Amino acid sequence: MKVQVCIIGGGPSGLLLSQLLHLKGIDTIVLEKSSRDHVLARIRAGVLEHGFARLMREAQCGERMDREGEIHKGFEIAHDGVLSQIDLHKHSGGNSVLVYGQTELTRDLYEARDRLDGNFVHNAEDVTPHELTSDRPYVTYRSNGETVRIDCDYIVGADGFHGVSRKSIPKNVLREYEKIYPFGWLGVLSRTKPMSPELIYVKHERGFALCSLRSQVLSRYYVQVPLTDKVEDWSDDAFWAELKRRLPEEVAGRLITGPSIEKSIAPLRSFVAEPMSYGRLFLAGDAAHIVPPTGARGLNSAASDIYYLYHAMLAHYQNDDDSGLQGYSAKALARIWKAQRFSWWMTMLLHRFPDRLEYEDRLQQTELEYLLSSETAQRLLAENYVGLPF
Ligand code: APR
Ligand code: PHB
Repeated sequence: MKVQVCIIGGGPSGLLLSQLLHLKGIDTIVLEKSSRDHVLARIRAGVLEHGFARLMREAQCGERMDREGEIHKGFEIAHDGVLSQIDLHKHSGGNSVLVYGQTELTRDLYEARDRLDGNFVHNAEDVTPHELTSDRPYVTYRSNGETVRIDCDYIVGADGFHGVSRKSIPKNVLREYEKIYPFGWLGVLSRTKPMSPELIYVKHERGFALCSLRSQVLSRYYVQVPLTDKVEDWSDDAFWAELKRRLPEEVAGRLITGPSIEKSIAPLRSFVAEPMSYGRLFLAGDAAHIVPPTGARGLNSAASDIYYLYHAMLAHYQNDDDSGLQGYSAKALARIWKAQRFSWWMTMLLHRFPDRLEYEDRLQQTELEYLLSSETAQRLLAENYVGLPF
């Protein structure tokens, strides 16, 4: 089989790119190693920057997102028993974010691909890219015991952090930058009414917490836990009790608890791989970079990769112009590093760091006091939180 673009990975990055290209008459195939049910069972973040929402609309996948997503013009920071509001709208020149679950967004993308009879393969085993530096690259995979070969012009590695694409770039070419944080987030999803219309990020001496939501009937909460904790150690009651302890009293009083419908611990990691292209392979999304979830940059960082890659492919196929493809890695990385910086900064600002100098704790406290007392600092935060332009 021959397609123009073979996309490895059917997460939001791969699906969105294939949908955008398809609408412009560029044929793609998406090879996904898991089943659709598995992909759609993953609970991920739920805050979209306006740039990502714009791409969803351009991909004709924005209808439900616009109907059911909630526009958030600000969020709150809880610290020392009080709440301080960050007015994103005011400080970013009228921008906001959209609260809409990534799981729902992925479902919308699958449905859009179905409507257009999009080419995708689930349960593709041993997906392997070949001949990346030739002008005839191809990808093989196994399905029902048979090996299938896809010839293509380009391969897009949108197969997440653990995927095969990044690993197929030679070690002497690839440079990886990584920071592992000494804690994780224990997250609970519950079918309860959110206790606050806005997200609340909590800095507390027992550790960070976050009150988030997916809709008016679905809440998402997190508490910072040591990496040694196991999810089985945390009963629902223990989780709610720990969350309440970290919230200002008045907020804790409003918390509506209920049985968890999902509970998991995620480690926090910052990671960037450079370059993001090698021969005819282009990496996008989590395959090339990971952020800690503080500040909700994960999926939003992928937005600019998809946008640049989409336009670079269009320029190639429509105008025979390869400059976008040649410049993709440098252009994508310039924005990626800014999202890295912001996620790292917000993580450092709000978490409790075990085994740290008291001096560093005082600096952290000063950073927060400065932020909350300075409109200029709040503007920097807002500009990054709603998403830097691309
Ligand atoms: N072959 C084929 N598919 C693979 C392979 C492989 N070897 N390895 C992984 N995959 C698939 C995964 O099963 C997953 O469905 O690639 C997909 C990658 O999806 P994500 O991990 O969701 O990454 P991405 O699409 O870049 O989405 C960006 O932003 O909020 C963050 O981490 C969050 O999912 C998120 C992301
Ligand atoms: C979430 O709702 O899962 C979420 C929201 C904001 C974040 C991180 C996660 O910064």
